[in-house]
Amino acid sequence: MDAALEDALMRTDLPLLGRREGKVRDVYELPRRAGEAPRLLVVATDRISAFDVVMPVPIAGKGRLLTALSLFWFRFLRERSRVPDHLLSDRVSEVPGIDATSVRALVGRSMICKAARVVPIECVVRGYLAGSGWHEYRESGRICGLELPKGLQRSDRLPAPIFTPATKASEGHDENITFEQAVATAGSEVMERLRAWSLELYELAAAHASERGILLADTKFEFGFELDADSAPTDSLMLIDEVLTPDSSRYWPADAWAPGRDPPSFDKQHLREWLLALEARGGWDRSPPGPPLPRAVIEETVARYREALARLTSDAPATR
Ligand SMILES: Nc1ncnc2c1ncn2[C@@H]1O[C@H](COP(=O)(O)OP(=O)(O)OP(=O)(O)O)[C@@H](O)[C@H]1O
Ligand SMILES: [Mg+2]
Repeated sequence: MDAALEDALMRTDLPLLGRREGKVRDVYELPRRAGEAPRLLVVATDRISAFDVVMPVPIAGKGRLLTALSLFWFRFLRERSRVPDHLLSDRVSEVPGIDATSVRALVGRSMICKAARVVPIECVVRGYLAGSGWHEYRESGRICGLELPKGLQRSDRLPAPIFTPATKASEGHDENITFEQAVATAGSEVMERLRAWSLELYELAAAHASERGILLADTKFEFGFELDADSAPTDSLMLIDEVLTPDSSRYWPADAWAPGRDPPSFDKQHLREWLLALEARGGWDRSPPGPPLPRAVIEETVARYREALARLTSDAPATR
């Protein structure tokens, strides 16, 4: 890609309606076309968050790497599963009314999607014991109410992948909940379907990653109901948001994995470790704004995202 295109993008301000800002992505509504369902423009900026705080400096290139990986997986999963998804196009030329400078900024980092009524449950699948799953298991022997064998270690492979839903908190941390609690929020028919879909998508992705020397320790999917031309939710569910990126997933290099250890992951682990060390020195207390990041941390972080993309989208399975 043209090096000039790698200018960092911290935020967008496009002449479109309905701007919403997530931690990483800026979302806009596209102009309505008569008789057609509403569409969104989702732009992955170069923002990065850690401990739920957006850092004050961009990770140049991250938004494009995330978008490339999401697009790869949406297409991969479409070919192999029957789970519908929200992706319509990644062609910036289909976004009406934006100038050439904005087009340049958006290329490779935006997706046109079907707008959804979001199901307010994070659909997490875990194949290994890490993160909040490991902490819950260590305290109670369970995750999200699911009883697990005794004596598992940190990073251990689970006997089979498990569905461990979480709340989608608009502020603060998402919280792990039981399947029954998810059913109380979203209904049993919906949750049965989302559990089956999530497990199916996880298995497809984990098998592909494993052929490339990468373990998919866990991942989070989001789903929503398609809207009709009057913006009313239909009963058609679809996969939305980003999919199987290092921001929504924990990927480990297979050759660095061993039960009892915490393998380095293809995401912002380096940044998290640097922030923890800063916190230990009294230099930050996890409240916004985040601290300015040293160049080495930024470069190491983008290198991890780049390597994840290169390995996961490579044709040839790794020989190992
Ligand atoms: N098709 C869709 N229809 C409606 N909303 C969507 C769709 N796809 C993704 N989203 C939402 O767009 C936002 C993407 O922004 P981002 O991931 O940066 O936010 P976030 O900080 O993770 O916020 P959140 O906690 O709300 O997910 C998310 O809130 C996600 O739920
Ligand atoms: Mg998100």
